[in-house]
Amino acid sequence: MTSLTDPQDPAPMQSLGRVLKRLNAYRWLSLGALLSSLLLTAAYAVTPQLFRWGIDQGIAQQDLQIVLYSAVAMVAAAIARGLFNFGQSFWAEAASQGVAYDLRNKIFSKIQHLSFSYHDQAQTSQLLTRVTSDIEQIRTFLSTSLMQVISAIVTLVSIAVILLMMNWQLALITLTVVPMSGWLMVRFLDRNSVVFRLVQEQLGDLNAVLQENLLGIRVVKAFVRESAEMTRYTTLNDALIKTNMKTIRAIRNTFPFMFLLSNLVTVVVVGYGGAAVIGGRFSIGELVAFNSYLLLILQPILLIGFAAPAIAQAATSAERVYEVVDTEIEISDRPNAIPFETCGGRITFENVSFRYPGATTEALKTISFETKPRELIAVLGMTGSGKSTIMNLVPRFYDVTTGAVRIDGRDVRNFTLKSLRSHIGIVFQETTLFSGTIHENITYAKPNASLEEVIDVAKTAQIHDFIMGLSGGYDTIVGERGVGLSGGQKQRIAIARTLLTDYSILILDDSTSAVDARTASQIQDALDDLMRRKTCTAFVIAQRISTVKNADRILLMDKGRLVAQGTHEELMQQSPLYGAILESQVKQTNS
Ligand SMILES: Nc1ncnc2c1ncn2[C@@H]1O[C@H](COP(=O)(O)OP(=O)(O)OP(=O)(O)O)[C@@H](O)[C@H]1O
Ligand SMILES: [Mg+2]
Repeated sequence: MTSLTDPQDPAPMQSLGRVLKRLNAYRWLSLGALLSSLLLTAAYAVTPQLFRWGIDQGIAQQDLQIVLYSAVAMVAAAIARGLFNFGQSFWAEAASQGVAYDLRNKIFSKIQHLSFSYHDQAQTSQLLTRVTSDIEQIRTFLSTSLMQVISAIVTLVSIAVILLMMNWQLALITLTVVPMSGWLMVRFLDRNSVVFRLVQEQLGDLNAVLQENLLGIRVVKAFVRESAEMTRYTTLNDALIKTNMKTIRAIRNTFPFMFLLSNLVTVVVVGYGGAAVIGGRFSIGELVAFNSYLLLILQPILLIGFAAPAIAQAATSAERVYEVVDTEIEISDRPNAIPFETCGGRITFENVSFRYPGATTEALKTISFETKPRELIAVLGMTGSGKSTIMNLVPRFYDVTTGAVRIDGRDVRNFTLKSLRSHIGIVFQETTLFSGTIHENITYAKPNASLEEVIDVAKTAQIHDFIMGLSGGYDTIVGERGVGLSGGQKQRIAIARTLLTDYSILILDDSTSAVDARTASQIQDALDDLMRRKTCTAFVIAQRISTVKNADRILLMDKGRLVAQGTHEELMQQSPLYGAILESQVKQTNS
């Protein structure tokens, strides 16, 4: 569970300040909203004066014309209120949409650029909540709460001034309600801000369970864990509703007092004001107007009260959004980074040790080797021995802890990331396809590739015939995670996707693990040919010795160390571990 932020922490309010600064990009819309809000207040403030005029000058003097005039003026004021109300909410809404749009793009772009190590540790659901619900909280704050508070303050001040001008003694009695409600409000927020924050965090936790469940729903069903998952969700849902009820109870406990206060003030105004009217010091019209203002002045206090929790929530949300936006990108271009242009094929690992961020042990321990141009290198080793980790260091998915990785003598950290990665074709161990057609998936990194090119790579990856057998051919839609395809089919589409890019270094991480041995060796044969033609160096990680037999050199990994290297024949003679792996595989195939 996420930890509670310190209520005294100024960061949320600072983040809210940064959100407000973003309004600068929408200053005309904001100004329109502000102006409408001021005019709206004025239209509200003038109405009781029209009442007073109609009663004192019209009804009391029996002047029908003034009664009519005042009635017409009141209708006009009502129409103006409607217009300004529309203007205020329309422009405030438009400005808030603009800021939300900018923030969404900003955080999304940041997520695109954050390094592997960030995504290793970040919870996907937390990131999702930030892009969606946190930004929505901020938007609602800008379009609603902020306007409410501004217009409430303007109303409060202007009506206080009007009341003081009308009758200062009565005004002072009336205005005592302001500090009293203010005190109730502060006490309310002070006691409940932690609860408001808790609601949001519990909502995040609930979403995390939901998201994990949706991703793993097949596992849930296979292990018949539906009811356990229900319990897990319901427990969190129960906690959420309990916290929500707490906030409702807190609101219910505070706001009736404010209404009571306002009614007590009415007693005073009617009593004291009534006596003043009888004594001839105050007109009936003035008393009616005064009483109307009384309602107007309590409204903004309540509005600020209702807006306060939303402001606290928006501040927390703003902090959560800026937390991601401000995250330092660990792996980025060095100041004098140069583009990676041609590859001579000499890749050097120089005493490379590597520890994953947050890990306690080293995944790679002083690895050293050098490839020759056009060499096909196979990396072999038990599961968890560090094969994928070695390959992660070449395109700088992670940077070495000590030592260096060089291409043609140049440290990879001196190249621009974009040029480096676009020259490395990598097929990941875990296949990810996107929703869309097979054609779109294969052309993911090269959208304008011709159909011949696409068919060419699909043939190399031994998937063309399968695709042609589908009713939609290359235009067949695959689900969001490639559902509808077998594991091996997905792997082969992923190989085709990589082969279509302008790689000069090729890395295949266990890419034929889900493909049958015969197809795998067909792919391997096609690739061997391609690799020698098109690449300057190729790495193949594989579990099967049969797949790596043809390699120019085999690197044998064991527990993060490079324990042997050489051709298949050399290793058979020299490495007991290689012999053991070979023996176990031969046994498997024979049994
Ligand atoms: N993102 C990560 N964060 C922390 N530790 C990791 C991470 N990825 C891998 N490791 C650890 O590093 C070690 C090497 O993992 P690696 O993925 O390189 O193994 P591998 O040889 O590719 O295994 P396999 O054949 O199962 O794919 C393992 O002990 C693993 O626990
Ligand atoms: Mg691996």
